[in-house]
Amino acid sequence: MNVKLVNQPLSLISADLTLEFVTPKQFETHPHRALLTQAGFKAEQEQLCALHEHRILVCGIDTIESDEFYRSAMASAIKTAMNYAYTTLKCAQYTPERFRALIEGVVLGSYKFERYKSEPKPSKLIDVIFSHENYDGSVNDLDALEAILSQTLVIAKATNYVRNLVNQTPDDMTPQQMAITADALAKSNNLECTILDVNGLEAEKMFAMLSVGRGSAHPPRLIHLAYKPKNPRKVITLVGKGLTYDSGGLSLKGAASMVTMKMDKAGGCAVMGIIKAISELNLDIEVHAFVGAVENMISGNAYKPDDVLRAKNGKTIEVRNTDAEGRLVLADVLGYAQENVKADYIFDYATLTGACMVALGPYTTGVMGHNDALKEAWVEAGAASGEYCGILPFNRHLKKLIKSDLADVCNVSSKPYGGAITAALFLDNFIDEDMKEKWVHFDIAGSAYTESAWDVHTYGGTGAGVRMTLNWLMENCK
Ligand code: BES
Ligand code: ZN
Ligand code: ZN
Repeated sequence: MNVKLVNQPLSLISADLTLEFVTPKQFETHPHRALLTQAGFKAEQEQLCALHEHRILVCGIDTIESDEFYRSAMASAIKTAMNYAYTTLKCAQYTPERFRALIEGVVLGSYKFERYKSEPKPSKLIDVIFSHENYDGSVNDLDALEAILSQTLVIAKATNYVRNLVNQTPDDMTPQQMAITADALAKSNNLECTILDVNGLEAEKMFAMLSVGRGSAHPPRLIHLAYKPKNPRKVITLVGKGLTYDSGGLSLKGAASMVTMKMDKAGGCAVMGIIKAISELNLDIEVHAFVGAVENMISGNAYKPDDVLRAKNGKTIEVRNTDAEGRLVLADVLGYAQENVKADYIFDYATLTGACMVALGPYTTGVMGHNDALKEAWVEAGAASGEYCGILPFNRHLKKLIKSDLADVCNVSSKPYGGAITAALFLDNFIDEDMKEKWVHFDIAGSAYTESAWDVHTYGGTGAGVRMTLNWLMENCK
């Protein structure tokens, strides 16, 4: 689907269908009020009604004051329009700020993943055309709108790229396949790409990550993508949990909780999408994306509860639950990343704990770290870009819950509450002293995947992390 911007008033644009957003207040004086009322339309948020004889699609919206409402209303409208036989749809502007939200609504809302359908059903809708004219007849600066359009398309498409990776099955998107995908991205986007296989991981003494992958027929890979502009303003390290499947290992998950665990690679996929967008926007920021791609399985050779592992930074870890595997992989990847890149900031993205969903609900990313101002800036970036973020606070008592009598640290907490925070406090053991204040951990367990549609998301991966990170980088690395 193409999103176009034209230098013409809405009335002069030729299109099969006109999309119009209507608040309950605007509906009171709407020219088609009688007809729409007959059809049961009340201008409720995301309520849709097509007047085919007038070639109009109206979409209810609670308020014109919020990007979020426009974004999700546009996503609903585009899904409906895609079911018709029209090929072109036109829409007016609602201030330049809203334009970004509307484009995101189109690109993210029209996303379909049909790779595993034998009969995909492509939509007939090809062009979505925006006028540069506002609803009240005033006109926006075309150059400013064009800049918004091209930037937003890059970010929204990178989000869909992440969704495509996450949605692939564990047998299609193995650690090796993730490495091949990263290599292809490096070639198309002029990135540097280094891959470590099992031999490379052994040479780097990454025994925590290696242990997690030992039971699988698909051996692990460490992926390092780098984007290096000439005079970077900042150097940023991104680390992603890339569990291509998490069966739980010998601490096996129950049948119901194992379903959807192909999504446990979403953090790794997110950092690939983020570096893709950064390189396509030519930002003056050096970015390193590291992915620990591993499959957590059972076998005679699988790692076990009771094992003690030595991580890359030398710390020993008592394993009491093989299902707390993401933090073991991240322990080594964080160590490797810090040894190889001296960064201004280090951010990690991981579908790390079910507890994060218990704490924040299924839509919100958990934000954790030592630097309060930095965490606040991320919550702001989330809100500004259409992602929900919530800070989960550390405290010194929680830290004691992952003490081990046997080794330096234990991979699970001794108490059943606060699991998202104790997981982050485990990761803290693998953050170097000089990086403590420069590190933020994102638990995307709830936000990265959905089995029911919400906001601009349909079934499957959501691309969590991409939009908020691009927003943070563009606001904070000027
Ligand atoms: N990948 C899971 C976390 C998860 C659960 C993500 C549900 C998305 C949806 C992680 O590896 C895991 O299994 N965590 C355990 C930790 C526990 C054993 C301390 C969990 O959350 O139950
Ligand atoms: Zn697990
Ligand atoms: Zn996991």
